[in-house]
Amino acid sequence: MSGDLLVTGIGHLVTNAAGRGDPAVIADAAVAVAGGAVAWVGPAAALPARHRGLPVLDAGGRAVIPGFVDAHTHAVFTGDRSGEFARRLRGETYEEILAAGGGIHATVAAVRAAPFDDLVAESAARLRRMLGQGTTTVEVKSGYGLDTATEAAMLRAAAAAGEAAGVDVLPTFLGAHVVDRGADREEYVRLVIDEMLPACAPSARFCDVFCDRGAFTVDEARRILEAGAAHGLRPRIHAEQLAHTGAALLAADLSAASADHLDHATPEDAAALAAAGTAAVLLPAVALSMRHPQPPARMLWDAGVTVALATDCNPGTGYVESMPFVVALACLEAGLTPEEALWAATRGGALSLGLSDRGWLVPGAVADLVVLDAPSYLHLPYRPGTGLVHTVVTRGEVAVGA
Ligand code: NIG
Ligand code: FE
Repeated sequence: MSGDLLVTGIGHLVTNAAGRGDPAVIADAAVAVAGGAVAWVGPAAALPARHRGLPVLDAGGRAVIPGFVDAHTHAVFTGDRSGEFARRLRGETYEEILAAGGGIHATVAAVRAAPFDDLVAESAARLRRMLGQGTTTVEVKSGYGLDTATEAAMLRAAAAAGEAAGVDVLPTFLGAHVVDRGADREEYVRLVIDEMLPACAPSARFCDVFCDRGAFTVDEARRILEAGAAHGLRPRIHAEQLAHTGAALLAADLSAASADHLDHATPEDAAALAAAGTAAVLLPAVALSMRHPQPPARMLWDAGVTVALATDCNPGTGYVESMPFVVALACLEAGLTPEEALWAATRGGALSLGLSDRGWLVPGAVADLVVLDAPSYLHLPYRPGTGLVHTVVTRGEVAVGA
């Protein structure tokens, strides 16, 4: 049957079956998959007879981890902002470029001009590269449309690109990315609430707002996120990235699924997020690309927050597709241990998306897993920038590799 598989020869299997930050490794393990879901996990020597006839994938002593869950991306886009990146390296700031009509506005112009099929094809190619790096579930935001038709088209493009690439896509409506060029702020907020949300909510699972200096205020974000919730969309928030504005406390107050970035988060913010059960989605590759200090990952983790790691793959603040690279950065620059970082990049991401069925390898979970070309998950932070993904399995089918 399709989606039936027996993965054997696993030197070290990361199951994430225990608590936060505990990889719960099984040595010399096997994973039996039936109908795309994990049926059994344990030491190979204890494999029940009923699973012995399945088609075999021999990991050859390599390590196996759950598929990465990239919980924050803007992976649907077109256009080239490498010139703007070079200007940032020469000293212009992101906010100056945005205020002058570049930045997000440049991508908006490119997305509006692109034929739908081209947007899907380019985005699917991006998602396939992410899959090749071990990412099996991706959250994808709109936000480069800033008009109702293009925002709705972006969400359709995200779904179509995920389908074409063989990656599970969770779509997020981000009509409130920035105020459209030339638009009146209050009129734009009303457009988001009164027109975009009703049109886009059926194609989205979450509603996000870029709540920051130069984008939307906390009051505007609250109105938009409450309207999104009324349409059945759980809030996620771009919070405390460029400045401390109070967005993290708003996230906690709304019981948002996640507060993302959090570069300027305080211990008070962390305590509120932990109490609200709002996940912190940290984006170390953005801090790197922006040449900003890293988010306070250690402080958030120690406050008991559910921490997730994500790429934030986008054409402006960090065009990074690789979760292994993000795991390495989280350890080397943001102060997480390898166990914490790996958990945050898999189980933490899943929990931040409200998905209980992935990010771990336990009976009943979706059989998304990665065979590393290494004997241990420790090689992810130990060898940054090295292609360590050997084979990717999605729903019990080999999607990448032999
Ligand atoms: O997460 N902060 C807002 N949105 C993206 C950047 C988008 C862009 O520059 O195109 C981010 O950093
Ligand atoms: Fe983002």
